Amino acid sequence: SVVILDFGSQFTRLIARRLRELGAYSVILPGAASLERILQEKPQGIVLSGGPSSVYDAGAPKPAPGVLDLDVPVLGVCYGMQFLAHEAGGDVKRAGKREYGKADLTRYGGQLFEGIQGEFVAWMSHSDSVTQLPAGYEVVAETEDTPVTAIENRAARRYGVQFHPEVVHTPKGGQLLANFLTICGAARDWNAEHIIEELIDGVRAQVGDGRVLLAISGGVDSSTLGLLLARAIGEKLTAVFIDHGLLRLGEREQVEAALKPLGVNLITVDARTEFMAALDGVSDPEEKRKIIGREFIRAFEREARTHGPFDFLAQGTLYPDVIESAGGEGAANIKSHHNVGGLPDDLQFKLVEPFRTLFKDEVRALAALLGLPEHIRMRHPFPGPGLAIRCLGAISEDRLDILRRVDDIFISGLREFGLYDGCSQALAILTPIQSVGVMGDERTYSYTAALRAVTTDDFMTAEWARLPYEFLATMSNRIVNQVHEINRVVYDITGKPPATIEWE
Ligand code: XMP
Repeated sequence: SVVILDFGSQFTRLIARRLRELGAYSVILPGAASLERILQEKPQGIVLSGGPSSVYDAGAPKPAPGVLDLDVPVLGVCYGMQFLAHEAGGDVKRAGKREYGKADLTRYGGQLFEGIQGEFVAWMSHSDSVTQLPAGYEVVAETEDTPVTAIENRAARRYGVQFHPEVVHTPKGGQLLANFLTICGAARDWNAEHIIEELIDGVRAQVGDGRVLLAISGGVDSSTLGLLLARAIGEKLTAVFIDHGLLRLGEREQVEAALKPLGVNLITVDARTEFMAALDGVSDPEEKRKIIGREFIRAFEREARTHGPFDFLAQGTLYPDVIESAGGEGAANIKSHHNVGGLPDDLQFKLVEPFRTLFKDEVRALAALLGLPEHIRMRHPFPGPGLAIRCLGAISEDRLDILRRVDDIFISGLREFGLYDGCSQALAILTPIQSVGVMGDERTYSYTAALRAVTTDDFMTAEWARLPYEFLATMSNRIVNQVHEINRVVYDITGKPPATIEWE
């Protein structure tokens, strides 16, 4: 593998993703990870990431003792390069001005740039610069503002770049990283087929003859995990899909149709009555979430007892949830909705988490190979509490039914107009607002539906999607014509912050 030591750059994850896209398995570890921890990963190369520090800061982060004595190639990126140069006896200076943005390399060469031709645009973001080279190093690239833009010490196999090869604004950065992989002699076999084989072997080794329980949400992670486990252990897997009555139109049938024919031992539980009874008259959003969480565990527990005993609980935890990085998210900061926590003592299972090392796009690639239909594979996220938090206030079967039809028109419309994949998430909301309208010759007094679509990378912040007016007009017409309980449609033009993506 290639080990990336994280010194706190916002781009560290991108380095890992780029290397994986190039077919090399890579892991992110905290900058100060011990030599022992790094050796566990059998490193063939080490990348020192960028970061906000200066090598002169008190407590500037650095690799643990012994790490740089390993006989493997090392690539320092930005701060990582400054660290390499400084540590080897070179000089780093706080440059007069900060270089930020695109820069053209005025000259480049050497091993990292081998085979690269034409102009090389590099994305810069630094204020310190290497001003004096350490012994054994040579400059292999420069820009107008930064004479020392890339360095190498061929004998010691140490390399450094001041720019960020991992971002899209460095279009030829991928070739540079590929050259580094060649220098490392790193295997380039990290592709979906290989990953599936490895995961299947891993699951079989862990599970043995044990029985595994999996909760299916209908989203891409748990569905893909269901398919993988079915291949790995067949009937020893029991997948439980709880229909809480808060699903979208036709969703239950779609999930069944996607998984059962591919051999997933799927049990669908109709728990609609219990959920509706528990939510009766409840209008506070957090209260709704709590009740749904509690009812979910109750239903899941009951199925576990009915179909058990089980030795393992499978979860679709992904790598971004477990990365131990300089940001200090901690090893097990798993989002609560990923975690079927709160199960009673006699139902404590060992965890099976085959996707712990994978990014979302890798799971999607596996999903394609495992045969998960496109409409589930590329689906927007859907919250665990489902339509309950989009049907504002107290819910009822009738209001859920209205929302379901509005949502279906909107989402189908986005797909029809080719706009779905351009949005990160799209949803319909049923508001409790009733307002006056006119339909034909009749005065109406009906509900207002809201449509929301956002673009985001991480769902922590989001922009409202600039959907074409023509499309919104068509949606509005279709909704009021087909859903008689609605006489007004509004589009949410608020970002996050200050709003959230969901309305409750
Ligand atoms: P907000 O509304 O907080 O949503 O901007 C951010 C993302 O999280 C999803 N979300 C949830 N997912 N259980 C979930 O599983 C929840 O209670 C929940 N609340 C929000 C939301 O759909 C969006 O993708």
